[in-house]
Amino acid sequence: MPKDIDWKNLGFSYIKTDKRYISYFKDGKWDEGTLTEDNVLHISEGSTALHYGQQCFEGLKAYRAKDGSINLFRPDQNALRMQKSCERLLMPQVPTEKFIEACKQVVAANEDYLPPYGTGGTLYLRPFVIGVGDNVGVQAADEYIFSIFCTPVGAYFKGGLQPANFIVSEFDRAAPRGTGAAKVGGNYASSLLPGKEAKKREFADAIYLDPASHTKIEEVGAANFFAITKDDRFITPFSPSILPSITKYSLLYLAEHRLGLEVEEGDVYIDQLDDFKEAGACGTAAVITPIGGIQNGEDFHVFYSETEVGPVTKELYDELCGIQFGERQAPEDWIVKVK
Ligand code: PLP
Ligand code: COI
Repeated sequence: MPKDIDWKNLGFSYIKTDKRYISYFKDGKWDEGTLTEDNVLHISEGSTALHYGQQCFEGLKAYRAKDGSINLFRPDQNALRMQKSCERLLMPQVPTEKFIEACKQVVAANEDYLPPYGTGGTLYLRPFVIGVGDNVGVQAADEYIFSIFCTPVGAYFKGGLQPANFIVSEFDRAAPRGTGAAKVGGNYASSLLPGKEAKKREFADAIYLDPASHTKIEEVGAANFFAITKDDRFITPFSPSILPSITKYSLLYLAEHRLGLEVEEGDVYIDQLDDFKEAGACGTAAVITPIGGIQNGEDFHVFYSETEVGPVTKELYDELCGIQFGERQAPEDWIVKVK
């Protein structure tokens, strides 16, 4: 029985669900893992995750499809990215098969929390790996936890397909050769203050420029940036310090193969916004959020409109969500069925 939740008005906040998956790494290997009702972790005060940020996480969603089945969107890509994050922070990798199997178990065990088809809601999965155990020196832990919880969510940026405005931050979220491309907590810790300052000024979030020259757009809060040029190309930044967004790579494919656009991963200069007729933020949580305007110092640049989504952005949104909710044909291997 679906839970008594106001599915159509879900925001992006934590709702405790019934079961989560947990697996321990000890003596050089992962155990099989189990589902548990306990949503509290009991870990050593010396855990490296607490002191030295030795942790990483992922974000992906389960979708109730029109035919009643349940879809995961490209979970293999999240598994691969988490393996890269683990490698960067000297943590043991979770094999792809174990990762996907755990995602399936968590969704199946919490099916009552999966928003019904047509409400726009989804079940957000949050896998994470943390360094635990009795430690104090700056070095990698010997013991780890891999866990996945889930929570029903709606739009991340208020309004969903309503355009949102963003402001260029004076802070960096990551260093040029740091951990920007890994999904590790440290990048998000450094984004808390800029994000808060942006919201205080009524912007949806901060935009981060490249940390080496501060001339190019890198990230839009916890999402990647894309734009449609006036000559109809899909462009998105390429940089070693941004998170390689699975949504972004999916849009690059769909823009080229479904919309017939030329696509490019390259430099997006903050002083060349006039080249674009539409812009957006993309990510698992953000889905596609149209960017109304960008404040950069004294300048405020409006793209398509501050109140309406542009036609290309809308087409991309329909294509992406259509695939995720099982309404449109998915490219091979993009959808993994839970049931
Ligand atoms: N950039 C950052 C900093 C993020 O936190 C996220 C969210 O995962 C993204 C981009 C989008 O990545 P994805 O599309 O894989 O969710
Ligand atoms: C996601 O889109 O999954 C993210 O990780 C964003 C999140 C930090 C809210």
